Amino acid sequence: MSETPQATPMALRMVGISKSFGPVQVLREVGLEVRPATVHALCGENGAGKSTLMKVLAGVHRSDQGRIEIGGRARDFKQPADAIAAGVAMIYQELDLAEDLSVAENVFLGAEPRRFGFALDLRACVAATAALIRENGFKLDPGARVGNLSTGDCQLVEILKALRKKASILAMDEPTSSLSQPEAKRLFEVVRELRRRGIAIIYISHRLEEVEALADEVSVLRDGRVVYSGPMAQTPISAVVAHMVGRELSDYYPAHAARPGEVRLSVEGLSTAAGLRGIRFELRAGEVVGLAGLVGAGRTELARALFGIDRPTEGTLRLSGRPYSPANPCEAIAERVGFLTEDRKRTGLCLGLPCGWNITLPSLPRFTRAGFLSLAREQRAAASFGEKVRVKWGGPGDPASSLSGGNQQKLLLARWLLSDVELLIVDEPTRGVDVGAKREIYQLLHELAASGRAVLFISSELPELLGVTDRILVMRRGRMVGGFATRDATPESIMQLAAVDGKAPAPLP
Ligand SMILES: Nc1ncnc2c1ncn2[C@@H]1O[C@H](COP(=O)(O)OP(=O)(O)OP(=O)(O)O)[C@@H](O)[C@H]1O
Ligand SMILES: [Mg+2]
Repeated sequence: MSETPQATPMALRMVGISKSFGPVQVLREVGLEVRPATVHALCGENGAGKSTLMKVLAGVHRSDQGRIEIGGRARDFKQPADAIAAGVAMIYQELDLAEDLSVAENVFLGAEPRRFGFALDLRACVAATAALIRENGFKLDPGARVGNLSTGDCQLVEILKALRKKASILAMDEPTSSLSQPEAKRLFEVVRELRRRGIAIIYISHRLEEVEALADEVSVLRDGRVVYSGPMAQTPISAVVAHMVGRELSDYYPAHAARPGEVRLSVEGLSTAAGLRGIRFELRAGEVVGLAGLVGAGRTELARALFGIDRPTEGTLRLSGRPYSPANPCEAIAERVGFLTEDRKRTGLCLGLPCGWNITLPSLPRFTRAGFLSLAREQRAAASFGEKVRVKWGGPGDPASSLSGGNQQKLLLARWLLSDVELLIVDEPTRGVDVGAKREIYQLLHELAASGRAVLFISSELPELLGVTDRILVMRRGRMVGGFATRDATPESIMQLAAVDGKAPAPLP
């Protein structure tokens, strides 16, 4: 290693890291250098190898080749504990907390202060956690049960864990993918504060505007190789995207022209115990309709009611003119309504099952004759719909758990494309999905609409709603408070409707 005299050692150097899972090579001689007190963004398409690289850094996976240096010292991580001891902390894509334990117990998990060497000293845990919370200016109750916290607060608990371990390197894998906007803003402040204290932060995100705002340096992985590394200030986002997908992406939102046809869904006076109040609207064949609102406005609750998860206490629903009152999701599916949930792990995928089954599950009756399932047909359909959404996999036999986060999302979309729905409700369908694949998903939704389906598109990202939909409905506190033709809507007009209390203001011009 040659170091210039004035250079402080890199917080982290990863050199020539290669990793294969069976025959599949996921990382190819990856090099990554991260300076202390910087935010280093790691970008790349779904399946590029970002999470795998971080798992090598965390000692979860052993690389087949390559070496890791922390603060100038060579390290060999045989297990996660080795990485932790060397000052590496990791916040995974899927948070890694014990839901039944308190904040303090989570912060000290595995290193609980003990009295007389054995009895767990809970009071000391709570006091130390309270001190950490105070020092960092967080608002958290050390005694609160983690299962009751919002995702944003869970994120803070993960950061407290890292601070407690005195980490010098903190890797965050898509930390904002399930945060609300205010929660994400708060997280950025925390990240900047950690940087001021000298911590090196590796930041993975598909939200490139975040990367631009936060990062000092950026590295791009493509197909397991680093194809670019440089200072953020000298790297326009369009260049990051071009490196990610290997080409320029122009017209990010695909052009489309809606031709609204007959009414697919009509909702009249819908109220539920979950807080919906007197909802009324229509969706037509051929339309992609956006549903906007702040967190807690009732968008997901509306989707749940339409899919038969929550029963209405009042109101009537009609689907293509016929009465529609699903008692459960099975009945909704039988009526050809699909729902792509926002929480793919909990209510979407069966992670232990093969990818193929995850795609064909609601459509199995179609592959069954006289009570017998035709496996060959089922497999062919799974393979072809997987290809259609361009899932990156070995094949439909791979377990869903082996796919990268964004590719799991594509599986769910393939499921509903195959099942031939009349109405598809999608809740944050591009969460964790890379820029190129997002565009493909938008295209698929337009194709669905163009073939006579209605699509209800829930998203917290206004640019996405404005770029993709034909109309936008706005909810606030369980009510439908207004709507626009998308060409007449602006982010301001939507936010004004979504946020103002009391009477709905007139939409801005
Ligand atoms: N345990 C595993 N077994 C087999 N294949 C795996 C395993 N873990 C990851 N892979 C494969 O390695 C590739 C890279 O996955 P990784 O999760 O690192 O991607 P990523 O860049 O984090 O993507 P995303 O943006 O979707 O999260 C994928 O093709 C994935 O299917
Ligand atoms: Mg990942």
